[in-house]
Amino acid sequence: ETYLPLKNKKVVITAGGTKERIDPVRYITNDSSGKMGYSLAHAARDLGAEVCLISTSKTLKTPYGVALVSVETAEQMHQAINAEFKEAAIVIMAAAVSDYRPDHVANKKIKKSEQEMTLTLVKNTDILATLGSQKNDQFLIGFAAETHNVEEYAQGKLKKKNADMIVANDVSKPYAGFNKDTNEVTIFMKDEQPIELKVKSKQAIAEEILAVALTKMKK
Ligand code: PMT
Repeated sequence: ETYLPLKNKKVVITAGGTKERIDPVRYITNDSSGKMGYSLAHAARDLGAEVCLISTSKTLKTPYGVALVSVETAEQMHQAINAEFKEAAIVIMAAAVSDYRPDHVANKKIKKSEQEMTLTLVKNTDILATLGSQKNDQFLIGFAAETHNVEEYAQGKLKKKNADMIVANDVSKPYAGFNKDTNEVTIFMKDEQPIELKVKSKQAIAEEILAVALTKMKK
């Protein structure tokens, strides 16, 4: 018999870097490709879940049977999650959400003038922390992309954002993090020893993250 532990459960996954508009032709973004999120969507589908993938990627192929919601900005991503959150059993924030956005979006292309120009940025809502403050039974998984003090920052995010799990990747490593096909992560959960997953494909990492989440959800 097939092993479908997530049958009849909704899993909401975010993927990719948000694009924060400056004007109609310019934006601020980051190096996230969406690969980690798409691997998670694929793995969750294979475990029988009803998967909603909220993504900024315009190039990755949506896994068969996965519902795609295309977004661009952090605000749009937040709205899309809000529409799904109540029904979700698991929410996974694999997206690299911009911490700031331009204070306003110019509706016409900005013309060049002075030698210097200043762009004022305002803080985006922390989606994961907001979900953490609103959750009931949802199992909330966040990521932490760090270049140093990985454990300290990851433990801080676990607490501050009230997540059930933080998956930390050391993105200074050449085989981990943004836009790579492989990753190496440490999984942090409250009252548990950290679990280290050595370098392997993002697909294999995704499968292991869900396997660990399933053991913790049963408790
Ligand atoms: O997409 P790939 O190219 O495959 O790369 C994968 C990845 C490196 C993007 C992924 O593994 C990863 O680490 N994603 C999280 C990146 C990130 O934004 O990390 P952070 O440490 O800045 O944020 C911590 C957590 O809070 C993340 O779950 C993030 O989604 C969430 N967040 C952050 C800011 C914000 N305003 N709202 C949020 O919800």
